[in-house]
Amino acid sequence: MDEKVHIIFLLLPLVSSYRYEGDEVNLTLAKTEAKLLHEKISKKAYSDDELIRILATRSKPQINATLNHYKDEFGKDINKDLKADPKDEFLALLRSTVKCLVRSERYFEKAARLAINKRGTDEGALTRVVATRAEIDLKIIADEYQRRSSVPLDKAVAKDTTGDYEKMLLAILGHDDV
Ligand SMILES: *[C@@H]1O[C@H](CO)[C@@H](O)[C@H](O)[C@H]1NC(C)=O
Ligand SMILES: *[C@@H]1O[C@H](CO)[C@@H](O)[C@H](O)[C@H]1NC(C)=O
Repeated sequence: MDEKVHIIFLLLPLVSSYRYEGDEVNLTLAKTEAKLLHEKISKKAYSDDELIRILATRSKPQINATLNHYKDEFGKDINKDLKADPKDEFLALLRSTVKCLVRSERYFEKAARLAINKRGTDEGALTRVVATRAEIDLKIIADEYQRRSSVPLDKAVAKDTTGDYEKMLLAILGHDDV
C-alpha cells in the first residue's frame, strides 16, 4: 500500500468516535511522549509509526497534556514545528489533526465558516464538517458560528445549499421538519 494511504488509515481514528475517551491524564507518559514527538519531529520523521500512534490513539486530555508539556519543554507549539514545509500536505494534515484534537469546536466552526464563505459552498468540506458530528458537539459549533457571523448556522446552510443536499444537512443539524 502507498505510504500516504497507510498514514491516512492510521489517522482515521482521529475523526471517528472510537478514540478512547477517559479523563485521566498520566503526566509521566505525557512527558515521555512529548520528548518522543519532539525527537521524531526534529528528525523530520513525520510519518514515524510511534508519532502516528500517539496522535491517533491517545485520549484528548492525554494529548493535551503531552502538547502542553511539549511547549513548556521545547519552547514552541508543536504546530509551529510542524510548519517546517508549509507546502507538504502530510504536515498540513498533522497540523489539522492537532488543532482538531486540542480545540475541536473552534476548528470545526472555522472549517464550517470557510466552507460557507467560499463563492458557492464547497459541498465536500461542508459535509465533512457536519458529518463528523459524532465526535464533537454541533451545538457548540453552531453557537460559535452565530457568535462570529451573526447568522445562525442552519440559516447559512439553508441559504447556501439547495434540494436534497440542503435537506440532508439540515436534518443532520437537527431540523427534521424542513
Ligand atoms: C504512567 O505511564 C508510565 C509510562 O508509560 C507507566 O509506567 C505508569 O504505570 C503509568 N501510570 C499510571 C498510573 O497508569
Ligand atoms: C488543554 O490545556 C489547556 C492549557 O492547560 C487548557 O486551557 C485546555 O482547556 C485544555 N483542553 C482540553 C481539551 O483538555
